[in-house]
Amino acid sequence: MDENTRLADPVVHSGEQELEVSLRPRQFGEFVGQDSTREQLQIFIEAARSRGEALDHVLLVGPPGLGKTTLAGIIASEMGVSIRTTSGPALERKADIAAILTNLEEGDLLFIDEIHRLGRSIEEVLYPAMEDYQLDIVIGQGPSARTIRLDVPPFTMVGATTRAGLITTPLRDRFGVTHRLDYYSVDELAEIARRSASILGVEVDEEGLMEIAGRSRGTPRVCNRLLKRVRDYAQVKGDGRVTGEVALQALGLFEVDTLGLDKVDREIISAIVEKFDGGPVGLSTLAVAVGEERDTVEDVYEPYLLQRGLIQRTPRGRVATRLAYEHLGLPAPAAGDEQLF
Ligand SMILES: Nc1ncnc2c1ncn2[C@@H]1O[C@H](COP(=O)(O)OP(=O)(O)O)[C@@H](O)[C@H]1O
Ligand SMILES: [Mg+2]
Repeated sequence: MDENTRLADPVVHSGEQELEVSLRPRQFGEFVGQDSTREQLQIFIEAARSRGEALDHVLLVGPPGLGKTTLAGIIASEMGVSIRTTSGPALERKADIAAILTNLEEGDLLFIDEIHRLGRSIEEVLYPAMEDYQLDIVIGQGPSARTIRLDVPPFTMVGATTRAGLITTPLRDRFGVTHRLDYYSVDELAEIARRSASILGVEVDEEGLMEIAGRSRGTPRVCNRLLKRVRDYAQVKGDGRVTGEVALQALGLFEVDTLGLDKVDREIISAIVEKFDGGPVGLSTLAVAVGEERDTVEDVYEPYLLQRGLIQRTPRGRVATRLAYEHLGLPAPAAGDEQLF
């Protein structure tokens, strides 16, 4: 697929892995924004450290690319413990999770990404482990089977999810704290771009930073992606320096618009407007119309469009707002013509 069509793509593109790792903040001091989450976590960490205890389990919720994985790494490093990383879909059998838990060292951090995709039986192994640091395992089969209870060293679980609504109540209840990450402001993104540019050795001026930040969809991952693309453009078309003018040209070429919407974002709003008469249209129908998975539309695209006020959710489906018409350069329907305004 053409990479430019998927700027909002939650998946790290091929060749991006190294970039992600090199730009990932390692300490709270390098982590920009999310002030309330950061301040609260710093307090919990300091308190746990001074008591010599493992940190309470933490659930991180938010759209892709906002810093969940980064925060898990920072928590581990600030606690001075090792991190073990796995994900909901990777844990298929009870034995997988049992092996991970029994191999943890005291205080270790277990990071489970996409925790809303954990199987039910795996979840059940986690309940006593999270609550009492205990693991029940069944030994043998048939009539001779028996359950033994093992101790697990005190550990901290950090779960990350794009969809808090899909996490079962018993699992959610076992997290001491839940933090929701929000989209970043343009100033925060400019700060992130500044930091990334200095790590990558890219020369960029204030206007260049603001141009990139303003079109980053509120998302650090997108911001770093744009910086890298604009740098390439500046090298080929200019003298390598990223000025406001160069950034503007590059972003225009890559079809990132002034709101930071990528092609798929625009397809979604124009489908609502043009194919469904402004809506309401059900999410599944909409997903088919733009050729995306329903979950991708819901987890990746919709939250930003909602946040920017381009679409709204109604009980009967998604509707395009006046702003969406304006953004597409189309006349909005006259008042009273449709449901929303
Ligand atoms: N608050 C932040 N400050 C600076 N860079 C950030 C921040 N949050 C995320 N990033 C950058 O964005 C990239 C994606 O973040 P990540 O933690 O992988 O997001 P998520 O796990 O939520 O999808 C990281 O490589 C990191 O460089
Ligand atoms: Mg992640």
